[in-house]
Amino acid sequence: MKALERATRLHRNRWGEPGLVVRAPGRVNLIGEHTDYNDGFTLPMALPFDTVLAISSHSSPRRSTVTIESEGFGLVEIDPADDPATVVPWAIHLAGVIALLAEHGIGTGGWRAGIATDVPTGAGLSSSAALEVATITGLLARAGRAWKPIDVALLGQRVEHEVVGVRTGIMDQFISAGAVLGHASLMDCRALSLDHRPLPGGAVIAIMDTGTRRVLAEAAYGERRDRCERAAKELDVRALRDATVSSVARITDPITRRRALHVVTEDQRTLDAAAAMQSGNMVELGRLMSESHASLRDDFEVSGPGLDQIVEAALAAPGCLGARMTGGGFAGCAVALVDARTVDEFTAHVLSSYQFDGHRAQIWTCTPAAGASVLTPS
Ligand code: GLA
Repeated sequence: MKALERATRLHRNRWGEPGLVVRAPGRVNLIGEHTDYNDGFTLPMALPFDTVLAISSHSSPRRSTVTIESEGFGLVEIDPADDPATVVPWAIHLAGVIALLAEHGIGTGGWRAGIATDVPTGAGLSSSAALEVATITGLLARAGRAWKPIDVALLGQRVEHEVVGVRTGIMDQFISAGAVLGHASLMDCRALSLDHRPLPGGAVIAIMDTGTRRVLAEAAYGERRDRCERAAKELDVRALRDATVSSVARITDPITRRRALHVVTEDQRTLDAAAAMQSGNMVELGRLMSESHASLRDDFEVSGPGLDQIVEAALAAPGCLGARMTGGGFAGCAVALVDARTVDEFTAHVLSSYQFDGHRAQIWTCTPAAGASVLTPS
């Protein structure tokens, strides 16, 4: 049963039929990793895995709190007047949205919802962004308001920065809010624009879950971001997007130099990958993805042993055009581009050859899904 049915059922069992159902997808990034907070380019797509909220207003109009019945976590009550950072950890993104949307004059209390998700958590597929974007979409719909995807995304990003305390880029929330069915999107993280590109036929995207989950990755993420900012300062540019391979060679500290080299080369790979997609050159797209993995592993150092192993298993599998880690890194999922004619052989090979720390692989092959939307309750 999909998250849509499960969230609706949670609501129905406790409160009857929901008045509103909203969904927001997780994402996979095809290429362009750790470039978003450097004003650079990324090429993500939405996954056919959703976080769903089935919503209704409290039966008593005087009740101003929010009641959430969540699959796996049970019931939580959020008072919009409280500090969002004091709620139980899993609900912090939700409480953050409630607190920050209120600043826009949008009524954020007086409702209840059943929540379910098909986005694996901590796997690098943006489960937090999906929760933020679904909640924003639901509250805007309740208020009869419609925002552009970038405005939804910027609010979700503020939740990460100001409530959760992680200075993420804009990629995850922007693609969850703004994706188009059947397309990946070249995201310009300075212009804050999306250029939707259809995924050419003949190849499929395989998401490969290593079974590993990140621990304390937030600190490493912040460290990488700080270092990129220091590198930009040393080069006297606004962001690493404005640096070049020859200019980063001037950076004195060798670690900072390698981090900056990743960002500069990854930006170029991402633009080349979008061009390869446009011309239907799947072999070139796959090659760039594999190059991206090497750069993340060796220069940016955000891969992990499970990720490296599954990428190697994928590259040795029949029909694999390219493979790389995806998302923030260290653990979670990798992504491969696979010849559509040999998907079954590819999957069988990776499933049988990957084994890390007691984990076996899980593989989903998918095509790009649509961004967040309001659904008609059934
Ligand atoms: C996480 C962040 C994104 C992005 C990626 C790395 O997913 O939320 O903003 O920086 O890491 O590309």
